[in-house]
Amino acid sequence: MTERRNYREAALSFGAVAAEYDRGRPGYPDELFDTVERLWGRALKGARVLDVGAGTGIATRLLAARGADVVAVEPSDGMAARFLLSSPALPLVRGDGDDLPFHDASADLITYAQAFHWTHPERSVPEAIRVLRPGGAVATWWNVQDETVPWVRARGRRMAAALPDRYHGYGGISAHTAHFAPAGLAVERAVLRWERRLTVEHLLTDLTSRSYLASLGPEERAPVLAAEREAVLAEFPDGVVVEPFVLDVTVAVKRG
Ligand SMILES: C[S@@+](CC[C@H](N)C(=O)[O-])C[C@H]1O[C@@H](n2cnc3c(N)ncnc32)[C@H](O)[C@@H]1O
Repeated sequence: MTERRNYREAALSFGAVAAEYDRGRPGYPDELFDTVERLWGRALKGARVLDVGAGTGIATRLLAARGADVVAVEPSDGMAARFLLSSPALPLVRGDGDDLPFHDASADLITYAQAFHWTHPERSVPEAIRVLRPGGAVATWWNVQDETVPWVRARGRRMAAALPDRYHGYGGISAHTAHFAPAGLAVERAVLRWERRLTVEHLLTDLTSRSYLASLGPEERAPVLAAEREAVLAEFPDGVVVEPFVLDVTVAVKRG
């Protein structure tokens, strides 16, 4: 019970840092959406898409720009409020991937951008299968920190040392997709690499929105952020960071 409550608190801790989340987090390159279309074998344009765990709408806006008929689904009050500020023209439904508030066979694609690991797959996978039309798909993706790059690996080590009970790294995050094939879905996967250039302050805004820091109070967070500012400036003295990502994409199709 305690574990379940803590999990729920961590999952919803984003609400308190929704503005930082929206400003700081990386977006997704166009190549991601090309890859989803290729793995699915269908176009996003005109597809009925549910973007579950939509947060502040970072992926929802990009899906809409690709012509998808997208509805955002978000359980957190804070994230939903930020979504309405950032994306007032897009529809948002309050809901949870473990219990989708949609009819059977009503969607072509269910996307989880950086969000599927917050669901309970024993519930969210059957829910997705129920709501998808035949030939529809679930697409999950994560921007994983590229720890083949030394400064990124060093940052992970600093987080693990500063927050041993909270920081568990990003290795294995996509293992959550192991539930798709046993449920009868046809699974395809791709791994993309991309990078963004940003200021150190922007990078710290992103860090503030990470669940392992978001779930701390501002006083506990401050020394971790100060140490991080110093370490990143030592690596990038001109204050412009090049941050690499591995984008891990899975598309799981409901057979027709
Ligand atoms: C890391 S954020 C991703 C936000 C957005 N999709 C993006 O790409 O930036 C994870 C989101 O999942 C939401 N979430 C947490 N538990 C969830 C659940 N069981 N079902 C759906 N979303 C959930 C959180 O509130 C948060 O907005």
